[in-house]
Amino acid sequence: MTTVMDDVVARETRHVLQTYKRNALTLVRGEGTRLYDGDGKEYYDLLSGIGVAALGHSHPALARAVADQAQTLIHTSNLFFHPLQGQLAQRLAELSGLPRAFFCNSGTEANEACLKFARRYWYTKGEPRAEFVALDESFHGRTFGSLSVTSDEHYRQPFEPLLPTVKFVKTNDPAALTAAVSKSTAAIIAEPVLGEGGIRPLTPEFAAALKTACDRTGALLIADEVQSGLGRTGYPFYFQALGLTPHLVSVGKALGSGVPVGAALISQQVADTISYGDHGTTYGGNLLACRAAITVLEEIFDHGLAENVKRVGAVFEQRLRGIAASHRTCVKEVRGAGLMWGLDLTRDAAGVVPAAIERGVIVNRTAETVIRLLPPFIITEAETLEALGRLDAALAAFGAQA
Ligand SMILES: Cc1ncc(COP(=O)(O)O)c(C=O)c1O
Repeated sequence: MTTVMDDVVARETRHVLQTYKRNALTLVRGEGTRLYDGDGKEYYDLLSGIGVAALGHSHPALARAVADQAQTLIHTSNLFFHPLQGQLAQRLAELSGLPRAFFCNSGTEANEACLKFARRYWYTKGEPRAEFVALDESFHGRTFGSLSVTSDEHYRQPFEPLLPTVKFVKTNDPAALTAAVSKSTAAIIAEPVLGEGGIRPLTPEFAAALKTACDRTGALLIADEVQSGLGRTGYPFYFQALGLTPHLVSVGKALGSGVPVGAALISQQVADTISYGDHGTTYGGNLLACRAAITVLEEIFDHGLAENVKRVGAVFEQRLRGIAASHRTCVKEVRGAGLMWGLDLTRDAAGVVPAAIERGVIVNRTAETVIRLLPPFIITEAETLEALGRLDAALAAFGAQA
């Protein structure tokens, strides 16, 4: 007898390009922190579609706003004004301290925009600078510019040559950074918490070195907050926790809580060097995307979710440290902040994912040895304890296989 799952897999195998190695799970519905497969089995979602579903699934306010906007006006293009882009840009400016926004549709596009604006800044100043400094273990996206500042050889190699003017430095090594940044550096790009690289927050010492390097050379600082931004770490942006003042910030993922929208946030100093026609995208900042993002930011910052991240984040951390203590032979380190956590294991963590799914909890492996946890901001204490209890059981089964 063929199942729904068999049908889905067979059709994809014929017609969807094989770029994604999927888990053996077909999800058809979501509500709050839970996802459901075709047989109605329930899963706690501790991944949020890789840091996207900040409001969880089927959030009533977001569903209402999207439906209402779809019935009013979805898209007009950037040839005309509409009322929502300015409202969203103003809200992002209040949260970030960067007064201008350029809207796009994904994280990688937000980084492309930041890289281009950095080049444009130096070009307008009449002293073009080509070079970028990026970090080992960084991930900034799959388009050519973003890939050029992404360190992982596995992602890069088949597509080379990439931008030839990128220097990589060891993450959290202030001396390496200082040596790499010069008056040829257009910008340094860094994730304040490296996400794909294994949930590694930058250290205060490294943040201080970033600031000094920028002050010394004039290099711009691009903070990639695509994964860490918009409340996930307990701060609107993690660069704020590090005391940094970036010239450009990229956001995506949580901004639309599932509706695709990204943005580059821009200091006035950089904005002043950009001209009409320098950059653009057809969909960027359409009414549907902006309405979704405005609703998401209201829920996070006006309706208590940012506080929930801090409060439940503390419970999350405590329970994770407990789990680490009871699996000492297999858990090496717990890293993160707010509701962005990584459990770094002593060996490849791939086996934990199916063991967790079997127990009704969705997690992901990154950087080979790290179990990544990016739950929705709406998660409660009780749900945290239940879901992490299941992860604990999955780790016990994984540990027993060693
Ligand atoms: C820090 C960071 N930057 C950029 C991206 C790329 O975003 P997208 O997949 O929306 O293009 C990601 C995606 O995982 C990310 O984690």
